[in-house]
Amino acid sequence: MNNIVQIRDLGKNYQKGPTTVQVLSGLDLDIEKGEFVALVGPSGSGKTTLLNIIGGIDAPSSGSVAFDGREVNYGDDGRLARWRAEHVGFVFQFYHLLPMLSAMRNVELPLLLTRMGAAERQQRCVLALGLVGLSDRAGHRPAELSGGEQQRVAIARAIVSDPGLLVCDEPTGDLDRESSTQILQLLRDLNGQHGKTIVMVTHDPYAAAFADRTVSMEKGKLQVA
Ligand SMILES: Nc1ncnc2c1ncn2[C@@H]1O[C@H](COP(=O)(O)OP(=O)(O)O)[C@@H](O)[C@H]1O
Ligand SMILES: [Mg+2]
Repeated sequence: MNNIVQIRDLGKNYQKGPTTVQVLSGLDLDIEKGEFVALVGPSGSGKTTLLNIIGGIDAPSSGSVAFDGREVNYGDDGRLARWRAEHVGFVFQFYHLLPMLSAMRNVELPLLLTRMGAAERQQRCVLALGLVGLSDRAGHRPAELSGGEQQRVAIARAIVSDPGLLVCDEPTGDLDRESSTQILQLLRDLNGQHGKTIVMVTHDPYAAAFADRTVSMEKGKLQVA
């Protein structure tokens, strides 16, 4: 078995006052190590919720998620945070960069949560910025970068700890076609050349076509192709 992620009978509910909103139910999904999977489906179908559970920033209400053959323990926040820092990189639609920090300092942020020394941090950041083609923008703040460049900084931040899994939520949702293509090509390279497993939420068939496989969601369940 070479699944990096194995999801069984996953359920997720939100309690809104007296009513329970069922967002995911009876969901099974296997993601193989080295796959690039696109997760598509209508707005509100539960894509972000599923992605956040896979990445360990949200917890299931029922069912199980295994990562590399080991069940993820969502009950232990500290352990979950350390697991996440080591194994998962996040890329969001709106980049979530800190405006006062340079590209380099933004990329460094996840490493500040580790015991890594300054020299190695610096080396890793230079490498990550080089991988996304922004070596010459290291000193720029987000406002001094285009949307596409900001997303590349966010991708550098996501890969700087060398995680095996990248989860991307509408990473090209706010970009024009040309910048989107650059981002998608970069994700393809990170997948093909650097072995990253990628799960990417998108509503754009153009973006989904860059993935190896497309999984469709409808009302909290996966559609069987
Ligand atoms: N924190 C929350 N509290 C209550 N309901 C939520 C919360 N987060 C998401 N939902 C509901 O879950 C459903 C799925 O949301 P989401 O996973 O964001 O869908 P998608 O990313 O496919 O648009 C929506 O109906 C949304 O309103
Ligand atoms: Mg969403």
